[in-house]
Amino acid sequence: TVKGFIFDLDGVLTDSAEYHYLAWQELGHKIGIAFDRDFNEQLKGVSRMDSLERILAFGNKSDHYNQAEKEELADEKNEQYKLLINNVSPADLLPGIKEFLDELKAKGMKLALASASKNGPFLLEKLEIADYFETVVDPASLSNGKPDPEIFVKGAQQLGLPLSECIGVEDAQAGIEAINAAPMFSVGIGSADSLGSADYLVPDTSKLSLEAILQAFNAKQ
Ligand code: G6P
Ligand code: MG
Repeated sequence: TVKGFIFDLDGVLTDSAEYHYLAWQELGHKIGIAFDRDFNEQLKGVSRMDSLERILAFGNKSDHYNQAEKEELADEKNEQYKLLINNVSPADLLPGIKEFLDELKAKGMKLALASASKNGPFLLEKLEIADYFETVVDPASLSNGKPDPEIFVKGAQQLGLPLSECIGVEDAQAGIEAINAAPMFSVGIGSADSLGSADYLVPDTSKLSLEAILQAFNAKQ
């Protein structure tokens, strides 16, 4: 039986994935690397420094900057991102998320956050949903980012639950791969183009239903 849900944050609970995209685009503009939403899919779920490396590689500029300069660029992106999320409020929860979280709590589910973002706890406060979560995995404690399963395995450990009793929820390809590799039952939010390997897929958060997810979970056992 399912006892826990382990959530990604950006693009799942709120649309901060869009703010990450806008902040990276602005930095890209400054250093002469243009990229579109298609390329941005590869940045979702990926840590700040790894995202920068991917952008630099995409623009053939990986060796134009030393480590200190790369850290400055990453800081600059983060300052821009923090400006963009500073006014986030509960009104920015994605459609159906509040209802879904309420339903999970009503059914006694334990919740963990498994976001690669160091801004995760700040956003949970801004969205006024920090109290829903029993535990938050500290991304600074990880040896490997998504698609490595470490963050989801830690989430289950912190909840005190076996992987087989947890469900992971993600909007990123790297995230679904991480959940599947745990192995854990995966719920994808988005299109089959990038999330085709999810155990259960909804096009957007308004379609999340505990009943339907549990049905798919039970069918897989
Ligand atoms: C999440 C987002 C990524 C972001 C990463 C690090 O995984 O999907 O787009 O790069 O977190 O976020 P941070 O706020 O620490 O820069
Ligand atoms: Mg995400």
